[in-house]
Amino acid sequence: MRRFVILGHKAAISPEFNLSDLPGSAGRLDVLCRAIGAAFLLSHDLRRDVEVTLLLQDRVQIRLLGKQLRHLNPDERSTAALLKHALEKLGEEEVRSTPGIFIAQRSLPSILDRLWQLQAHSVILHEQGIPIDSFSIPSNPAFFLSDHSDFSADDEKTLSRLPRVSLGSQGLHTSQCITILHYLLDRRDQDESEDLVLCHKVWAETQAKLIQGLLADFHIPSNLVTQVPPSVLPMAINGLAEVQIKVCLRDLARAKEIIADYFQEEPLSESIPE
Ligand SMILES: C[S@@+](CC[C@H](N)C(=O)[O-])C[C@H]1O[C@@H](n2cnc3c(N)ncnc32)[C@H](O)[C@@H]1O
Repeated sequence: MRRFVILGHKAAISPEFNLSDLPGSAGRLDVLCRAIGAAFLLSHDLRRDVEVTLLLQDRVQIRLLGKQLRHLNPDERSTAALLKHALEKLGEEEVRSTPGIFIAQRSLPSILDRLWQLQAHSVILHEQGIPIDSFSIPSNPAFFLSDHSDFSADDEKTLSRLPRVSLGSQGLHTSQCITILHYLLDRRDQDESEDLVLCHKVWAETQAKLIQGLLADFHIPSNLVTQVPPSVLPMAINGLAEVQIKVCLRDLARAKEIIADYFQEEPLSESIPE
């Protein structure tokens, strides 16, 4: 499950706002509606394995659950209408306003507590966090993002123990961050489900390691696979053994180019060195 928690500092907590004035009377509810769209909407489909939790003014929680969600359309106005309808049902206990949308009075510590109980791994998205490329996104992640403004001092205090991750030095919109996170996680899921493919063969482990390092310089991960069963031929002919360099399918063409450029030879050359 991918979770996104979005803190709406000024967003309306009563339903008396004008659907034609989301940035104004609704306190930038347009930002939250765009974030909801980015979290759930695919072209002609919905992501079902997603939960979005909106926290409005640190008092009202609206939870949207992809598995049960109905009536979510790409336009912000109809999303805001779903939130308005939820706010009409607000009480202390959590209630369902429409399929997949639940509302309750909650605060940031209670959201953190629920995520902890669900064994979700909470992470803050922040321009000044550690670069996402140096961070291993945990399984079952819960990403905390702010709305159009920065996290408040109270938010910072409550979230101070969580890792902070950056998507670069440019300040992005909340919805853009969500799209990037989906892209990275989709890519990771795809890599994990696909077998690696053969990119190059060499006849010495040292050469294979050199190529592996070369690919790593270009951020291409690879695996080295030796085809010689050690029990039969411990180190093959003259101390040489065939080593296959395998990469993800999406990296194959680029990896072959890099190897060919480096050695200035055909990448799948299988010749045994003299
Ligand atoms: C529009 S930004 C917040 C406002 C912005 N800091 C400002 O006042 O200029 C919305 C949220 O998206 C996330 N965000 C924006 N840019 C980011 C980046 N480069 N890396 C990680 N998160 C980012 C943060 O959670 C941020 O609070």
